[in-house]
Amino acid sequence: MAQVSSVAEGKTSKSITLRIARFNPEHDHEKKFMEFNLQYERWTTVLEAILDVKKHFDHSVAVRYSCRQATCGSCGMIINGKPRLACFTKISELDSDVVTVEPMNNFPIIRDLAVRFERLFDTHHKVKPYLIRDDSEITSNEKEFLQSPEELENYIQFANCIKCGLCNSACPTMATDSSFIGPQALAQAYRYVADSRDKGKDSRLKIIDDSHGIWRCHFAGSCSQVCPKGVDPAMGIQFLRGYLLGFRS
Ligand code: SF4
Ligand code: FES
Repeated sequence: MAQVSSVAEGKTSKSITLRIARFNPEHDHEKKFMEFNLQYERWTTVLEAILDVKKHFDHSVAVRYSCRQATCGSCGMIINGKPRLACFTKISELDSDVVTVEPMNNFPIIRDLAVRFERLFDTHHKVKPYLIRDDSEITSNEKEFLQSPEELENYIQFANCIKCGLCNSACPTMATDSSFIGPQALAQAYRYVADSRDKGKDSRLKIIDDSHGIWRCHFAGSCSQVCPKGVDPAMGIQFLRGYLLGFRS
């Protein structure tokens, strides 16, 4: 199916073919692709192109988004074969006349480009993503738990996670082990273990030292390559292994 849209009609606009995967698990056995010819400008994002299709041609295309500024983590999808945020990916940077969008791998599909996040949120919650202190310390006269810039540096990169799931989508172990805790949760375990204000290291290390935990990672490194926020789950996993093997304390 080829149609022309008006996402951009300026003098500098170019055209692409946008291929959108369509799939409804209630009655489809495999994905089908719908194609649209679109005009775009160099600043047009993949999300804007998909929304243009919804506005002008087929409002039933299912896609999740919210902030449109790489903050909420909602719009992850496979774009030309790689997990990316649709709102943070400009068509011009893909350097291709054809842009194919598909739902993220390793997530159950709700419909079309929208996937279920329950597994990611469950594993995220499992590693206790909050500061753990004794109640007596929190209610004492000590109002602040101060940190040096060096102590902040130990974990701040990992605090940038927006829970988009791109790392889990890229992970080959996620594809073969449906119980694997995944790079997102492991990166968040490290974020809190490395925080000088936290006292929950031992309980988190116990949680990830599990038959479907940290040792299932084959260190493919694809999680770190696709993260749009500069988080490096592969490095966090190595640091966590250092704690478990006694190289770090
Ligand atoms: S680590 Fe990066 S890719 Fe993974 S969920 Fe967080 S922001 Fe997304
Ligand atoms: S719409 Fe929020 S990250 Fe893309």
